[in-house]
Amino acid sequence: MNKSDVVKLILGERLYYLPNHLSANAFAPTNIALCKYWGKRDQELNLPVTSSLSISLGNKGATTEVSITEQTQDIALLNGEPVNLFSNFGKRLIAFLDLFRAERALHFKIDTQTTIPLAAGLASSACGFAALVLALNKLFHWQLDAQHLSILARLGSGSACRSIWSGFVEWNRGIDADGMDSYGSIIPEVWPELCVGLLIINRNEKNISSREAMQRTIDTSVLYPLWPEKVNHDLSAVKKAIHEKDFLLLGKTAESNALTMHGIMLSAWPPISYFLPETVAAMQKIWELRQQGVALYFTQDAGPNLKLLFLSSDAELVKSHFSSLEIISPFGV
Ligand code: DP6
Repeated sequence: MNKSDVVKLILGERLYYLPNHLSANAFAPTNIALCKYWGKRDQELNLPVTSSLSISLGNKGATTEVSITEQTQDIALLNGEPVNLFSNFGKRLIAFLDLFRAERALHFKIDTQTTIPLAAGLASSACGFAALVLALNKLFHWQLDAQHLSILARLGSGSACRSIWSGFVEWNRGIDADGMDSYGSIIPEVWPELCVGLLIINRNEKNISSREAMQRTIDTSVLYPLWPEKVNHDLSAVKKAIHEKDFLLLGKTAESNALTMHGIMLSAWPPISYFLPETVAAMQKIWELRQQGVALYFTQDAGPNLKLLFLSSDAELVKSHFSSLEIISPFGV
């Protein structure tokens, strides 16, 4: 089964609809996994080996406007700058748009504005593909439900299936070969005191994409077989922590989950490390603060930046130690 088969399955005759508006736009939040997705059971459909769980970052994300252009090729703008359609990202975008042309000479103009640093492990492709799917759904008036929108977003980038929702989101791995049971669903809990701090250490593009890194990890790490078991344990712990508002359990589990993912990556060959010296220095500072009794934890994705986890009652204290920190309240309080 390939991506195009899944799109046909979901859209049916709607694939041939004409645009209902001149343009349509949509916003999708970026999401940070508290229990990570690392490794695919199907590379074509971005089907994961394990389930994962994330928190969406409120109004941090991507707003995408999509329209049909008279030009002979697609046009893509990212924060006002033309996207090079021959770059890796450009090719991924075009291949994704190909899924929705239905053998017609349709060309799209995609204009995206983001409120987060790009490609620095801040999951920008996640909100980008989610916003694009939401905007296409409006443009063509497909009227898809969130489950199907999530599946379409996953075809662009796995973690994008979680960016269809705000708040806590679980991506159930599913077991079906066509992935129709692999999508994000909201966990209906709010936690107004929960804060996420973005500690930007480096804004440069990462030198190995998460896509390539996760495949290399599966192919070469002797530790990878331990990962699904670790995720099973951490998923139940994170869900319990969310339900009981047990911040220490949430922080500890999320940090341990991220460090295990990075540890397994280090054991891949050639080794993969997203650590910069400043990343490690920040971790050590967090561990020291914790020893002094501060309830502060972190998580890290496929980049050198850290996302700090703490409660609003400690926001000022945390900010006094990390002055550049951008603090986000995912539940908008
Ligand atoms: C470390 O979703 O970017 O952020 O499916 O290949 O596009 P593709 O990968 P992607 O990987 C995200 C990896 C992660 C962990 C996570 O968000 O769960």
